[in-house]
Amino acid sequence: MSTMLRLPETGMDKARVFSTMEELRAEDADWKHAKTWSLVYFAGEDILAVAKEAYMRFFSENGLNPMAFPSLRRFERDVVQMSLSMMHAPETAAGSMTSGGSESLLMAVKTAREWQRKTRPHVKAPEMLIPLSAHPALEKAAHYFDVAAVHIPLTADHRADVEAAKKLVNDNTILILGSAPQYPQGVVDPITELAAIAKERSILCHVDACLGGFLLPFFEGIGRKLPLFDFRVPGVTSISADIHKYGYAAKGASVIMYATRELRRFQYFSYADWPGGLYASPSMTGTRPGGAIAAAWAVMKYLGQSGYERLARETMETTDALRKGIDAIPGLRIVGNPDASVFAFDSDRVDVYQLADLMDKKGYKLDRQQRPPCLHMMVTAAHSVIKDAFLADLAAAVQELAETKPAPEGSAAMYGMLGAAPDRAAVGSMLIDFMDGLDNMP
Ligand SMILES: Cc1ncc(COP(=O)(O)O)c(C=O)c1O
Repeated sequence: MSTMLRLPETGMDKARVFSTMEELRAEDADWKHAKTWSLVYFAGEDILAVAKEAYMRFFSENGLNPMAFPSLRRFERDVVQMSLSMMHAPETAAGSMTSGGSESLLMAVKTAREWQRKTRPHVKAPEMLIPLSAHPALEKAAHYFDVAAVHIPLTADHRADVEAAKKLVNDNTILILGSAPQYPQGVVDPITELAAIAKERSILCHVDACLGGFLLPFFEGIGRKLPLFDFRVPGVTSISADIHKYGYAAKGASVIMYATRELRRFQYFSYADWPGGLYASPSMTGTRPGGAIAAAWAVMKYLGQSGYERLARETMETTDALRKGIDAIPGLRIVGNPDASVFAFDSDRVDVYQLADLMDKKGYKLDRQQRPPCLHMMVTAAHSVIKDAFLADLAAAVQELAETKPAPEGSAAMYGMLGAAPDRAAVGSMLIDFMDGLDNMP
């Protein structure tokens, strides 16, 4: 007999449905107490309540058909325009909402490929230059859209090496990308210099501001200096910014912006021959959840410039305190000189993977990075309540490991081994095995 789970014979009682769900979340990461350092961007109960209410009010609506729900059409237009003005876009600019950073990046690459097919049909093997630190969604885009990803090496400060990029660019290059900031060390790539290379060759330049798009634009207002990274930089043709990260909206909300409407047309898809009707869709997905679009609009309107500036200030003050505190722990060191609220730290005293395991036991979730091993943190204003306790726990964990010097085991041993393994294709295949095996986990 099949062991596969079947629908309950008769429906479950509502109270039991929810009590079971609550039981199942018992082991989930504790973001509400600010113990996680990625995945959830919490900025306070009031903002969460606004996002939830807007989401619930438009829970059933679908942004797929722009004529059926004029409300969603308006929300999306407003969200895109507010984002464009945050990025100092020209009047010619346009954009779309997507389900997240990955979809926005996929669209930037798809647009570049369609643009190349139309304007440079002689290019048979299109390439894009992306820094080694660029988000894996770009490798995914390369894989999906058959645009080769050519890696720009990093300089000692972890930023894309402009001189190397100049040597890598060639007649097949259709797109150059920089991040603001990149994820691993939290630094902003030299956008002005990368965009200048693109401009000189009349090719496209995308800024991945998925992470920083709702934080960096408020630096000016809070008196923090940063080189330009937006549409004011000559040569920048598109920017992605995630509203579900530092925009504090519900999951499923990002914006992809283009310097011109003509460029955005390359993103769109239409099919006129379907017996089911005339079909057009702006991005990867078909159905587009009304809730995510509505929540983005509601939170952006609720916070406004002053709300985002307040959160940017609190986020950066918390980040500064954490960076200072970590640097003061003997044996720990912040990697490079991060520009925003995302950073990594490593150690010459303890095994950082063992440190992460020990911190897991204390309820924290620190992300492990590799090549070289270090731990990663994304800070929000909500972390200000936990920063002192976290630093004390971190210092105690380092001390304990330095004194006891345990042999690496379990996840620490596995991370160490996989990070150092020379055969990256084999490691990639093990990751697929891991995902495949998730069905068998409790
Ligand atoms: C720099 C950067 N780009 C893109 C993404 C992808 O965003 P998402 O997870 O929403 O697809 C991330 C996610 O952390 C990121 O840090």
